[in-house]
Amino acid sequence: MTQPAFNRAFHRDNGTLFVEGVSAADLAAQYGTPLYVYSRSALTAAWHAYADACAGRRATVHVAVKANSNLAVLNVFAREGAGFDIVSGGELARVLAAGGKAENTVFSGVGKHPDEMRMALEAGVKCFNVESIPELDRLNAVAGELGKKAPVSLRVNPDVDAKTHPYISTGLKSNKFGVAFDEARATYRAAAAMPHLDVVGIDCHIGSQITEVAPYLDAIDKVLELVDQIESDGVHIHHIDVGGGLGIRYDDETPPDIGDFVRTVLDRIEAHGAKIGKTREVYFEPGRSLVGNAGILLTTVEFLKPGAEKNFAIVDAAMNDLARPAMYEAYHAIEPVTERADAAHTYDIVGPVCESGDWLGRERTLAIEAGDVLAIRSAGAYGFVMSSNYNTRPRAAEVLVDGTRAHVARERETVQQLFAGEHLLPD
Ligand code: LLP
Repeated sequence: MTQPAFNRAFHRDNGTLFVEGVSAADLAAQYGTPLYVYSRSALTAAWHAYADACAGRRATVHVAVKANSNLAVLNVFAREGAGFDIVSGGELARVLAAGGKAENTVFSGVGKHPDEMRMALEAGVKCFNVESIPELDRLNAVAGELGKKAPVSLRVNPDVDAKTHPYISTGLKSNKFGVAFDEARATYRAAAAMPHLDVVGIDCHIGSQITEVAPYLDAIDKVLELVDQIESDGVHIHHIDVGGGLGIRYDDETPPDIGDFVRTVLDRIEAHGAKIGKTREVYFEPGRSLVGNAGILLTTVEFLKPGAEKNFAIVDAAMNDLARPAMYEAYHAIEPVTERADAAHTYDIVGPVCESGDWLGRERTLAIEAGDVLAIRSAGAYGFVMSSNYNTRPRAAEVLVDGTRAHVARERETVQQLFAGEHLLPD
């Protein structure tokens, strides 16, 4: 079974797009555009797809905060009892402010600062996912200063091809991530010998927007083989963290159903455990598959600009609001919030930023007029979080819809806020 195209929380009624019980046109009119809109029921449905497949098994789910770190969104997951996966001290602060618990939080990332390590140790995070010997040394020193023992897992690089965009593939030898597979055993021995570290697990994350299960199983088989070797050296591995990366449907991709994916992974790990008489906890770190299709970006058409070679629809959202097309040539479906019966034309949908790379969709056939509101779909993951203030553009507002209620999850930035911390030279 594969994931459905988009989520049922986004549906049409008489040609008008609705987010749960609220019309997208009304949201645009009330809050202005560009506007990120999330559906609470889509968030919880994706969460339950993971959580229900984990129920009764030794498995926990940690929401990858980097995909969408809005406090209201994190709070939806925290209320469901979610764990979290963070990559900075800032993300830890967000998790705590959103009602998440440090003891359910794993700390990933290739370059943790000593201040971030201190903050995470003091808060009591569940595990540090460490990626190199110098990072182990640093963590050992910081934990020693605080008189604590840091729980650690090593992120190993299984050297498998996740068959995704090169910028979001992370499990190959050529990537900066993780401890090289051939060095992992020795690195575990080194970690086990450090007095202020407590080795508790192993992790890997092979990439993002992965639409097949096979690369995961290849990675897991390699990791399990390594676990046997590490344990034969006398280091016990309590948990295996399989990372995140499960893809979603943006266009015509056919990613596996979340529940099927979780069960396949757990079955593989449990079968290995049964063979050698050991059970281990399994961690998941999904981001995109929880939030990606739970969000859209609403934008208004400013001008239609016909050209000799191309027609452009210039909209009020830009690459600073949604960087994925410019950065990865990513596809996002784009559709008018209110359908028109007029003839459709083919447009490149572009923003007002002064860069030719500022596009949101290419060659889209749409019946639109200036002033129409468009919905850019599948924008809940790596959308707002990657937005910037380039061209001194305030970042968009974010709204979370819950049934018939719309809740402002983040106010639109003001220009004053953008340069509030800047100072002219003194006379
Ligand atoms: N765990 C680790 C260690 C990660 O590095 C990531 C994502 C995740 C979990 C969550 O992966 P997900 O389930 O969301 O695929 N900006 C890119 C995606 C970058 C992903 C980085 N790491 C994009 O817009 O496609």
